[in-house]
Amino acid sequence: MSDKKPEEMLDSIFDRALSGKHILNDNHVLSSEYIPEKLPFREKQIVSVGQTLAPLLKGMKCSNLLLYGKTGTGKTVVARYVIDRLAQKAHSNNMKIRVAYSNARVSRTSYRVLTDLANSVDLSIPFTGLSIGEVLQRIVNKISQDGYFVVFVLDEIDYLVKTHSDNLLYELTRSSDRLSPGFLCLVGISNDLQFKDYLDPRVLSSLSEEELVFPPYTAEEIRSILLQRAEMAFTGGITPTAAINLCAALAGSEHGDARRAVDLLRISAEVAEREGAEQLEEKHVRIAVQKIERDRVNDALSSLPLQAKVVLLSILRCGDDDSSCSTGTVFEKYHNLCQKIGIEVLTQRRVSGLLSELDLLGLTSSSVVSSGRYGRTKKIHSSIPIQLVREIFSEDPVLTPIL
Ligand SMILES: Nc1ncnc2c1ncn2[C@@H]1O[C@H](COP(=O)(O)OP(=O)(O)O)[C@@H](O)[C@H]1O
Ligand SMILES: [Mg+2]
Repeated sequence: MSDKKPEEMLDSIFDRALSGKHILNDNHVLSSEYIPEKLPFREKQIVSVGQTLAPLLKGMKCSNLLLYGKTGTGKTVVARYVIDRLAQKAHSNNMKIRVAYSNARVSRTSYRVLTDLANSVDLSIPFTGLSIGEVLQRIVNKISQDGYFVVFVLDEIDYLVKTHSDNLLYELTRSSDRLSPGFLCLVGISNDLQFKDYLDPRVLSSLSEEELVFPPYTAEEIRSILLQRAEMAFTGGITPTAAINLCAALAGSEHGDARRAVDLLRISAEVAEREGAEQLEEKHVRIAVQKIERDRVNDALSSLPLQAKVVLLSILRCGDDDSSCSTGTVFEKYHNLCQKIGIEVLTQRRVSGLLSELDLLGLTSSSVVSSGRYGRTKKIHSSIPIQLVREIFSEDPVLTPIL
């Protein structure tokens, strides 16, 4: 931290803002809502979605469509790009085509998802109070009455399927089958390739009349996507090539995830601006990586259920003398901690389950070591510094006595 007084620091932050010296021209260009004019490497998918929806412009019905692929492969942006243009064409030709978009993860409830659909046909739905069936009926009536042809993009449907069963999808596909006049076309998007296994077969066959897979981008493709964004986002025609190369390399290391890359570039630029730097450099990207990781860990830690928090604390407890500890030791410590704060002690089996979940979240790592004639034991260590865990868990008053 700087040794300047807060008022001096604030002054210089504001002066910098006033002087108009920015690295970023337009930070909206790097936001997740932004839809670029051009989407390189996705021409095939754009054309394909366009061809599926085009019959609507002839007043004909079209097939439902399912888009899937890993996160950051451009599914959302391609779908929005195509429906925006479809809506423009329909508008300039005075056609009764409406487009709607809803993200099931963001909207959370079936009710909210349907409200997004209702809004697209100028139907207002009270905030609460109606049954899902009733809301759907009103939407269907309105679509029929006005003879609308509606394209409904339902993003992250895997979320809907896993959390509320696929009832809503079932009802939607059924309603669209029975609609006349008017028409409802569904474009489902999923980040999870396995989600089809969870779907009701009737829903699946209706939804996947056509399917389109989005492959991961290569590191080189990510780089050129970032370069294209950077040309619009950064001031004075300065493209911070070295920083962009680093963002692309880091984001491409698991699978070609354009979202991670764009987010990393945006946060790096924010770091640089906050520092008052003239240019975005690799060091800002490195700081941004740490910041993203810290935020991820913060979110993961603070949203853990109480029992999982206690299990994590038990692991940290045995870390003092031995760098790693066995399941047995963890359970012992866990038992003590539960008694100290007066909560239920779960069975060893349930605790093992929680241990696996912590592992999956990347908060702990376990390894199996062979210990001579006693066979093999599992050793568990926390991947998170104890200080950070204490800091975040201190928000939970129940845990105070054992921190
Ligand atoms: N081909 C592309 N050209 C330009 N930007 C892209 C491209 N593909 C993805 N992006 C950008 O990368 C980010 C992630 O894309 P998104 O469509 O949200 O991925 P998905 O929905 O598959 O998880 C968004 O900011 C998006 O604008
Ligand atoms: Mg998406």
